[in-house]
Amino acid sequence: MRVLGINALFHDPAAALVVDGRVVAASEEERFSRRKHGHRPVPFAAWELPEAAARWCLEHAGLEPADLDAVAYSYDPALAEPADRLGVDDPWDHLRQEYARRAPSFLASALPGLDERRVRFVAHHVAHAASAGLAAPYWGDTDVLVLDGRGECGSHLAGNYSRGHLTVHHSQRLPDSLGLLYESLTEHLGFLRSSDEYKVMALASYGEPRFLARLRPLVRAHGCGFVTEPVPWDDYAPAVTPGAKLLPIHADLAASVQTRLEEVLVDLARSIRARSGARHLSLAGGVALNCVANTVLHERSGYDGIWVQPAAGDAGTALGAALTLAQEGGDPIDAFPGADLGRGWTDAELDEVLCTARLPHQRPDDLAATVAGCLADNGVVAWFQGRSEFGPRALGHRSLLAHPGHADNLTRINDVKGREQFRPVAPMVRASRAADIFHRGPLPSPYMLFVHDVDPAWRERIPAVVHVDGTARVQTVDPDREPLLDALLARFEERTGLPVLVNTSLNTAGRPMVDHPREALELFGSAPVDLLVLGPFTVWRRDLAAEERP
Ligand SMILES: [Fe+2]
Repeated sequence: MRVLGINALFHDPAAALVVDGRVVAASEEERFSRRKHGHRPVPFAAWELPEAAARWCLEHAGLEPADLDAVAYSYDPALAEPADRLGVDDPWDHLRQEYARRAPSFLASALPGLDERRVRFVAHHVAHAASAGLAAPYWGDTDVLVLDGRGECGSHLAGNYSRGHLTVHHSQRLPDSLGLLYESLTEHLGFLRSSDEYKVMALASYGEPRFLARLRPLVRAHGCGFVTEPVPWDDYAPAVTPGAKLLPIHADLAASVQTRLEEVLVDLARSIRARSGARHLSLAGGVALNCVANTVLHERSGYDGIWVQPAAGDAGTALGAALTLAQEGGDPIDAFPGADLGRGWTDAELDEVLCTARLPHQRPDDLAATVAGCLADNGVVAWFQGRSEFGPRALGHRSLLAHPGHADNLTRINDVKGREQFRPVAPMVRASRAADIFHRGPLPSPYMLFVHDVDPAWRERIPAVVHVDGTARVQTVDPDREPLLDALLARFEERTGLPVLVNTSLNTAGRPMVDHPREALELFGSAPVDLLVLGPFTVWRRDLAAEERP
């Protein structure tokens, strides 16, 4: 079957294409429109479809809209209820259901040739669950836990996938929502709601959870579900005006909510495990991007293994909805092939982009050695390779790289990106060396979805990637899957003794990750990056400076 998945309604509109049970392509609309997160998650924007991403998925596979057997839309308006009955304070919420009901005809007009009768609705949390449970490497039997802000009527799904069949244990009904709780704290702390939740997680490391005892009665697990009562944030810490200075009390509040979230997740996971007896757990939903909580789950939930869908936010529901229909149609579902599911360019196309821009560029014989030399000399490298990542993490395809051994490289990278200085940067490490340096979290960890403790002996050696609490959000690099990245790390280790690089996403503050090579050139032209690597080609800042001299 040829199934196109579509996520449009809340956050991160995206499209994904599954052909005969194999994930062929997936991308977020923001990478095309250059609007971060595609659109704001308000009812008025819910009609907007990921048109460019959907067209690209088809084009990539050489398909026309008429070739599709099904289009899977990751929200089912038939399951929705009026907002006031759900305790949701949004008088325009009904627009979401209106737009969702009309999505088949909207899609047919956006993708000429598509038969709108081929569009089917998949329940939002079932789509999230499939993005984890059907994609996970635990095909035979895995529990699944989905937690986000909201779907049609709920904010959660707890269940089990056994040989592709989903059994739902419980679905928590709104208004109780761990995702919305975290979003409302994000807003109280002066950050952008439904966007900046990861900043709250980073801020939490600076605080003490001194409000924990007061939060426990308000936010608590209840079997496979939970309760979230309204939290009077002003009673804990004053609201922050966006851009205003954060005080220690705000970090303490963030730490308190983060710790309570972790406790509730562990209770939930233990309840699910007790019910099913499964050995593995798969996670999806925006809350599953909380890599600190994921590590606590890994440590304390009792499961042998935990797999997190890299596009755990709503973008991943495009993939999960498509997988759901493919599975129902009888296709055997292939293992998740990796997060590099977006656009890629041939060497000839990259060369043409550089020639059009009249940028002096070289094609070194040993790219890994050349780039490792720049990094060893403390250069900052914009690294553009292969297909772009699906999901919010840069995993060495659209990355900014730097030397981890210089503490001030954290400040330097945050300045390059124009973002807050409390934000950490993450390490990538050769998979074979990870266990020597990083502890506590699961290894390998190819998708940067868990935090690890940095071995005390290494904290001084790689200070730029060690967060204030002694942790790091690690990406392990497998030489079979990522031979060029592994070679780069190997050459860097030969030069410095460190099998680790600073890796952060290739973008500047407030913008989506670079996707197209032209955007890489734009970033290179506007940020103090020493070397741009576009596929096999290198562009040196020093060469440009030399050209400008008389
Ligand atoms: Fe969601």
